[in-house]
Amino acid sequence: MDRPLRVAALVSGRGSNLAALIAARLPIDMVLVGSDKAKAGALQVARDAGIPTVAFSPKDYADRAAFDRALFGAVADAQPDLLVLAGYMRIIDAAVVADWAGRAINIHPSLLPKYQGLHTHRRCLEAGDTEHGASVHYVTAELDGGPVVAQARIAVGPADTEETLAQRLLVEEHKLLPAVVGAIATGRLRWNGQPLFDGTPLTCPLDITHL
Ligand code: GAR
Repeated sequence: MDRPLRVAALVSGRGSNLAALIAARLPIDMVLVGSDKAKAGALQVARDAGIPTVAFSPKDYADRAAFDRALFGAVADAQPDLLVLAGYMRIIDAAVVADWAGRAINIHPSLLPKYQGLHTHRRCLEAGDTEHGASVHYVTAELDGGPVVAQARIAVGPADTEETLAQRLLVEEHKLLPAVVGAIATGRLRWNGQPLFDGTPLTCPLDITHL
């Protein structure tokens, strides 16, 4: 590609992953940040960086599909090459997701396929895992279920709590998400019906140290 990758993001929360993506100074143009929560801290992060924002409220729409068509329609109008779900906490209508196949990625705080959904740190502790981590995957209709492209790992110690795990993992998330977006921006990571890294289909997730 002879121009910077156009990137849009969807957010629901405080926006620390969005902030890390912006701070990484990648060869990308952030064209829009959208949210289902008008008061999300992440929208302020975007505004502070001079990125256009939109917020739509689910309660203004008859159902999930109508809401998703509105929000994702606004995202499509910004003509991104890549959509990044950076702490976007809503399930997305399957027909809407299908339009973004191979063009949308999500960061999730677990070593997928373990712990799809919520409370990943608690579930990791309850299972007695000695290792925890974060994953970036392509988005499909299955919640946190699309092909995983890269992961970052941390060790779990006996003194760890949900809070300490969340805190330590977030530091790794802030490296992982920009690393994956950077790999897409430079063309190392591509989608061809499946993820390709340096032209070769990924048979297992990359470790962040290989990005
Ligand atoms: C991050 O930990 C991200 O991995 C998680 O939400 C948090 C958002 O934090 N995403 C999910 O759980 C998606 N299933 P942030 O708003 O500070 O980036």
